[in-house]
Amino acid sequence: MSAVDLLAAVDDVGRDRRRGGWSRHLGDDAETTLREWFTTEAARRGLAVETDTNTNLWAWWGDPEAGDAVVTGSHLDSVPGGGAYDGPLGVASGLAALDLLRARGHRPTRPIAVAVFAEEEGGRFGVPCLGSRLLTGALDPDRARALRDADGVTLAEVYARRGHDPARLGHDPARLGRLARFVELHIEQGRALAPQDLAIGVGSTIVAHGRWRLSFTGRADHAGTTELADRRDPMLPAAETVLAARRAMARDPQARATVGRVHARPGGTNIVPSAVEVWLDARGPAPQALVEDVVAAARAAAGAEGCRVEVTTDSVSPAVRLDAGLADTLTRVAAATVPEVVRLATGAGHDAGVLAAHLPTGMLHVRNPTGTSHAPDEHAEDDDVATGVRVLADVLADLTR
Ligand code: GLV
Ligand code: MN
Ligand code: MN
Ligand code: MN
Repeated sequence: MSAVDLLAAVDDVGRDRRRGGWSRHLGDDAETTLREWFTTEAARRGLAVETDTNTNLWAWWGDPEAGDAVVTGSHLDSVPGGGAYDGPLGVASGLAALDLLRARGHRPTRPIAVAVFAEEEGGRFGVPCLGSRLLTGALDPDRARALRDADGVTLAEVYARRGHDPARLGHDPARLGRLARFVELHIEQGRALAPQDLAIGVGSTIVAHGRWRLSFTGRADHAGTTELADRRDPMLPAAETVLAARRAMARDPQARATVGRVHARPGGTNIVPSAVEVWLDARGPAPQALVEDVVAAARAAAGAEGCRVEVTTDSVSPAVRLDAGLADTLTRVAAATVPEVVRLATGAGHDAGVLAAHLPTGMLHVRNPTGTSHAPDEHAEDDDVATGVRVLADVLADLTR
């Protein structure tokens, strides 16, 4: 089955009528349905499916215990109101690539797996690449278990409800040790390939990025009767945080600083808020330094308003250089299918970035003609998807010959 057909089969899953696009988060109905879909599709192919201790899914062609495995795959969760391709394209392409290899009569000399990593976007619990971070030991399982979603439900509760013992979460060096290569195919998140008329590109680097939370506390009061001098309004330093983030970004063309989420409590139009929480996403050559500047501005504004501020680091991901040898392999193999192969640096985070610290890891990007991602407009043409699958299959064949 083609990757396009595979994706079409789940196009309705997690459609978000309110926000537009798709919302698929750890433990919700949509994500559960997608995991079942993956399990069914893998089983239909005679692949052995297993759920690891961190609820990542693995569909094996060959013996999972044999070691030296070549892995492809991506994630099935999305951001709130995201696109249909960020994540699922890599999973569907992995399955379709295996179909192609089998149709060609390829006999792998080592196991191949298609993996689905849990909660890559951190859309529900705030920490991105949850499954791969837990697997690699980059995230303390105690911290993971205590993470809370917007409704205060803990990650441990979500897993317990799903029938997965949260005590099992955590570093899995034995599994990691059986993996030799990881290649993640992903929708392009940017605007590099279309102007060059190229269907695919090979990943080179992933920019450093992180997520911070600034919690401002003031004093709730009546919107109509509270005079200026009596206000302790946490919305003021929150607004200053947004402006400081933009100023910091404007100082460096490579820097990115985004406030995509704000929560005011108690959240009434006629109430001076008691507390405001601001989520800050920062990326670029020095995201931590950027955040220090933003936090300094936020503290000054909070002080001027008589508010308190607490800063939490939700995640930090260093810059990643993907494996040069594997990028060369991807480039050489892709050159048999496409006229020109370019290397792409990406400003988006990926499980590939987490795994790259442990095993040679590469990425293939498929042209996104809209250039938009993390939004419903994200798109890939069917022909480009087919090209991506063909090149992925060729790469898997090359690595398992
Ligand atoms: C995830 O895709 C991210 O880059 O935040
Ligand atoms: Mn994403
Ligand atoms: Mn992704
Ligand atoms: Mn991502």
